[in-house]
Amino acid sequence: MADVLRVGVIGAGAIARGAHLVNYQKCGERVEVAAVADTVKETAEECAKRFSIPRVFTRYEEMLEKVELDAVSVCTPNKFHAPVTMAALAAGCHVLCEKPPAMTAEEAERMAQAAEKAGKILTYGFHYRHAPEVEALKRFVDAGELGEIYAARVHALRRRGIPGWGVFTNKELQGGGPLIDIGVHMLDTALYLMGYPEPEVVLGSTYQKLGNRKGVGVMGDWDWKNFSVEDMARGMIRFKNGASLILESAFAANLDPLEEMNVTLMGDEGGADLFPLKIYQEKHDTLVNITPAHLPEKGSYELEIERFVDSCLTGIPPLSTPDQGVVLQRLIHAFYQSAETGEAVKLDR
Ligand SMILES: NC(=O)c1ccc[n+]([C@@H]2O[C@H](COP(=O)([O-])OP(=O)(O)OC[C@H]3O[C@@H](n4cnc5c(N)ncnc54)[C@H](O)[C@@H]3O)[C@@H](O)[C@H]2O)c1
Repeated sequence: MADVLRVGVIGAGAIARGAHLVNYQKCGERVEVAAVADTVKETAEECAKRFSIPRVFTRYEEMLEKVELDAVSVCTPNKFHAPVTMAALAAGCHVLCEKPPAMTAEEAERMAQAAEKAGKILTYGFHYRHAPEVEALKRFVDAGELGEIYAARVHALRRRGIPGWGVFTNKELQGGGPLIDIGVHMLDTALYLMGYPEPEVVLGSTYQKLGNRKGVGVMGDWDWKNFSVEDMARGMIRFKNGASLILESAFAANLDPLEEMNVTLMGDEGGADLFPLKIYQEKHDTLVNITPAHLPEKGSYELEIERFVDSCLTGIPPLSTPDQGVVLQRLIHAFYQSAETGEAVKLDR
């Protein structure tokens, strides 16, 4: 296997710069970022200048054709995750694709099949899996400290956090609002900690109450006139093993905290909250809470990139797998379908 990973980045916006490129740089000589592509020429050029990337393209197809690459970061809006990922896999590259995996379950399935066919790594940008709280809690869960986890709560809530950049309010390009954008992070984290149980039924509701009118923008001014996604999603998933999960996700809601990202797990031996990490148990006739006195400080984005590079260079399997991407995408689809029809949606496999 090669000692140096030649990487290309497709989509040169906020996440490419703030999470992928800064952390590829931290990998030192193990990574060479050889090319960047963005449909907006100035964006691609400016990014290339800032990160000293030698080759710049406006068409990712041309980049994949002309530059010999080992791996690609896919950092485009959601609509392009599937076609770009499949083109990169077909060009012989390992792929780290930003979350959510795709727009539909069918796309996520095709991406998984393409990775299998190409014999390349495909993983997704679920960086919370690398957060120290998640890593610590996973060890407690794996050691049986929570027992059977039969109930979970997932919160990805913002009071007025509608993104004022990008295309996050455009259903055509993103597939939805807070559920597919930030809810998916906490949903993936909960499922990961629960061992990715097989879902059985989804009942969801979505709302558009605040995003389509002018208001205070904590994350910048958003395009409220063309706001075409939900601003809140709430619902429940029941799994085949009997466990259930309640999810709430919002870009905007009249709540106290400006932002709340959290997973709560309840098992028959213990429970836990993730952010901040707290474990609840009953021991020696006493209700006790366990909190870490210390957690590692390395950021979750840094670890995500470092581990993707490790996977590509050494073959260690990544944490987030294409099959899990398919499960997530099926859940999101079922959630939106349930919200639209008003019926619970049964997942038949
Ligand atoms: N993991 C995380 O925490 C996290 C955080 C933010 C965004 N994201 C994800 O990253 C992706 C991008 O979000 P962002 O905030 O960087 O958005 P952004 O708008 O800042 O950047 C997206 C860039 O992609 C470019 N682009 C659009 N279509 C393209 C195409 N076909 N080929 C090449 N470039 C193209 C745009 O010109 C833009 O520069 C989204 O899928 C989003 O869900 C993940």
